[in-house]
Amino acid sequence: MGKIRCIGVLTSGGDAPGMNAAIRSVTRAGICNGYKVKGIYRGYDGLIKGEVKTFTTEDVSNIIQTGGTILRTARSKEFETPAGRKKAFDTLQREAIDALIVIGGNGSLTGAMTLAEEYDYPCIGLPGTIDNDLYGTDSTIGYDTTLNTITQCVDKIRDTATSHERIFFIEVMGRDAGFLAQNSAIAAGAEVAIIPEDTTGSDQLIKFMERGIRKSKKSCIVIVSESPACGAIYYADRVRKEYPGFDVRVSILGHLQRGGSPSARDRILASQVGVGAVQALVQGQRNVMVGVRNNEVVYVPFIDAIGKRKMMDKNLIRVLDELSI
Ligand code: F6P
Repeated sequence: MGKIRCIGVLTSGGDAPGMNAAIRSVTRAGICNGYKVKGIYRGYDGLIKGEVKTFTTEDVSNIIQTGGTILRTARSKEFETPAGRKKAFDTLQREAIDALIVIGGNGSLTGAMTLAEEYDYPCIGLPGTIDNDLYGTDSTIGYDTTLNTITQCVDKIRDTATSHERIFFIEVMGRDAGFLAQNSAIAAGAEVAIIPEDTTGSDQLIKFMERGIRKSKKSCIVIVSESPACGAIYYADRVRKEYPGFDVRVSILGHLQRGGSPSARDRILASQVGVGAVQALVQGQRNVMVGVRNNEVVYVPFIDAIGKRKMMDKNLIRVLDELSI
């Protein structure tokens, strides 16, 4: 591996609160350790097109508290092709960028791994996604903020649920992971969470309705993890048909979950892993995701971070079950 003089940084995939704190951290830690730092705009699409700017410490001033990403982001289809990655690599060479730090979720880190393998090029990943679905790190940048946002929304909806004695199905994001649904349900005191991790094979709606939650309560909140076929609307329709007599409403929280100022936890996580990424390059590491486990910075090979499924602690399911009687 040649000497690294210049580091590129980009954000990719869905924006997440705390991405700016991560960009700031990579930039400042990079400069502090003697590297030149270049910001790449619009994710891999911008890398393909050559949208690159040299960053100074001032370029990342006053952003730690802001949501979204100052580098913008994209879900690049072109980068999924070998021809797209070739153009991206050409930009890296032209710009004399010797290593790339990618802030993003599963798809973005898969892209980084593929580029690293095809071109024997040093890449480091930072876990940037509200979904918390990356293996090897206790949390991902954006997850804590989103969890708090959802909790606040559910608190508000509960006022109406209680006043009108309704069943509310509230759909939250998470792609195919139920961390946001399960933990927001616990935090907001919801009656049940319908999550993809439920492997009992039983019908989660019937299980919940037959348990007779309404015997002791006149309203209830069901948090539903997003799903193309079985989201909140699906379950609400089923209750209307299979259990007539209930006053049912649906609330799909949507993209308001991804916005807003990052929580202190997300800012700290982003700051830690950004410094950790630069340290990884100083130490000659490559093709790892930087995470935090049990309060320690860890380096997780891309293949594990992306390929292994992060399991939900089964105790969390019991906690909700036992507390929602
Ligand atoms: O990965 C983050 C996420 O917000 C998922 O929870 C959700 O499924 C998806 O992105 C939505 O993506 P988009 O903003 O492109 O519609």
